[in-house]
Amino acid sequence: MPKIDYLRISLIDKCNFRCQYCMPEGSELNYVLNQELLTNAEILSLVQDVFIPLGFTKFRLTGGEPLLRPGVVELVRDLAQLPQTEDLAMTTNAFLLAKMAQPLYDAGLKRINISLDSLNPLTFDQIIGNRGKSRWQQTWSGILAAHRVGFDPLKLNVVVIPGINDTEVLDLAALSIERSWHIRFIEFMPIGNPDLFGKKAWIDSEELRHSIRQKWGLMESGVRGNGPADVFQIPHAKGTLGFISQMSECFCDRCNRVRLSADGWLRPCLLNETGQIDLKTALRNGVDPIDLQAQINQLLLLKPEINFKERDSGTEKGIYTRTMSQIGG
Ligand code: GTP
Ligand code: 5AD
Ligand code: SF4
Repeated sequence: MPKIDYLRISLIDKCNFRCQYCMPEGSELNYVLNQELLTNAEILSLVQDVFIPLGFTKFRLTGGEPLLRPGVVELVRDLAQLPQTEDLAMTTNAFLLAKMAQPLYDAGLKRINISLDSLNPLTFDQIIGNRGKSRWQQTWSGILAAHRVGFDPLKLNVVVIPGINDTEVLDLAALSIERSWHIRFIEFMPIGNPDLFGKKAWIDSEELRHSIRQKWGLMESGVRGNGPADVFQIPHAKGTLGFISQMSECFCDRCNRVRLSADGWLRPCLLNETGQIDLKTALRNGVDPIDLQAQINQLLLLKPEINFKERDSGTEKGIYTRTMSQIGG
């Protein structure tokens, strides 16, 4: 079991997109009220007084869409300045990134992962649930801005959905040939939405690797990041290809992370909420950080038991009280 030293912090549960696999229709009715969101000062205090003393050094800011959160640049600056912060990253949909890439970079954000499920504006709009003016171009401009200001590595996340964007896998993989980008293909997880795309709604990563291998060849890259992706490379490509295969393989035994929701719940596993702790209420009631550290330590000791199990027994229709956008991916 690796050291658990990576905290994913959801800054807000709202999103400006409506990706079907992440925000099922009606989920906006359950948005948490503003006063229920952790404030910047509360997030900073939890990181500084509770998580860093427990040995956490890697932090990723997620959403919903984290760029919708007022004060996000200031929060990045405060987190980046903590001497113990070894890695500070964000996962965003990039729609607001063209203007924010430079301030975020200057504030000390080190890495950025961006969701991009299609190169085709029509398919893109269909996936993100957009019926108005296409949002593809502004998203692409956000990606280019992130590249221009120097975010490196720059990772693009593609959730592959059979019958919707699976025909684009080779085109998306080709982006890694001339650019030093990391393109990651993700097996759709039926979280809170088990019947969304039919019975088997993901494509096994090995199937995707097979078609990429046939076209260009594919080498295993010696590098394993600290995340769930298996990393490969097209020979002589500048970038890499990652495969996040939580449905066809199990990577729970190398899980190094826990998640803090925008309303302050500490969740031990993406796919299992057993044992979660209400840190916001504890903080607002003045509970001593030392006591919180003790509670979290207990949860971390239990984490190998809590890591998602039902998947292997084929019961992935588990009970999920939160959608992906509420958990932060
Ligand atoms: P890196 O630190 O860059 O490796 O980030 P990451 O890949 O962990 O983060 P990102 O937010 O880009 O997530 C990419 C995909 O991995 C998303 O579909 C996440 O839901 C999925 N993912 C991230 N962490 C976990 C995890 O602990 N378990 C599972 N099953 N999926 C995860
Ligand atoms: N299955 C797999 N990945 C998902 N994401 C959101 N919902 C799902 C899902 N149901 C991904 C997004 C984003 C990351 C935070 O999580 O594509 O890149
Ligand atoms: Fe929003 Fe990201 Fe979820 Fe899409 S995947 S609805 S962009 S939080």
